[in-house]
Amino acid sequence: MSDRILIFYGSYRSDRQGIKLANYLVDAFAARGASPELIDAKAVGLPMLDRMYREYEPGTAPEALEALAQKIIAADAFVFVTGEYNWGVQPGLKNLTDHFLPEWFWRPAAIASYSAGRLAGVRAASAWHPTLAEMGMVVISSTLSVGGIGGAFDAQGAPQGDSGTALTRAFPRFADDLAWWTEAARAQRARLKPPY
Ligand SMILES: Cc1cc2nc3c(=O)[nH]c(=O)nc-3n(C[C@H](O)[C@H](O)[C@H](O)COP(=O)(O)O)c2cc1C
Repeated sequence: MSDRILIFYGSYRSDRQGIKLANYLVDAFAARGASPELIDAKAVGLPMLDRMYREYEPGTAPEALEALAQKIIAADAFVFVTGEYNWGVQPGLKNLTDHFLPEWFWRPAAIASYSAGRLAGVRAASAWHPTLAEMGMVVISSTLSVGGIGGAFDAQGAPQGDSGTALTRAFPRFADDLAWWTEAARAQRARLKPPY
């Protein structure tokens, strides 16, 4: 079965750069035979959190929230593409993830960080790790970190330069790691009903 991987990205900025990394990951996972889908928080357009999905009576959640919930429930794995704002997470992506809780459970998650500078958003990645674990995901240890995001891709979206080359080199191990945990979690869910 082809792994259904949701790739989340959450910058709302007009001149956002991380979308290039998110699009690269969609293409790279598809090239491996997976079934990735980009979830662009800005395009989904959830409001600032009022009610979580689970707080709505069945069938009464707003359309965008319902559609996203069904995608999360059906997914095999998640990738969080995160930029870094003031050493922390981007609010658009955090707001989206906070709308859900049990819908995330019992699947693996991977973090791909980036930033304009050389530290490649690793402080945001560090912040996301316990957050995703708290939300019931198994966070894999492999990460991607792309520094100099502004120049890491050419106009067609292909990786370029030192950052782009490092990304291309690191991607296979990252994807292998996620695929291993995806298969392990799928097998375990089939073998034993999750306890809650
Ligand atoms: C509000 C704000 C805060 C930022 N804080 C950091 C930071 O703490 N560390 C860093 O490396 N880059 C920081 N940057 C630069 C970002 O890495 C860069 O703008 C990046 O392109 C942001 O992602 P986006 O283009 O997908 O929105 C910040 C940018 C903004 C707009």
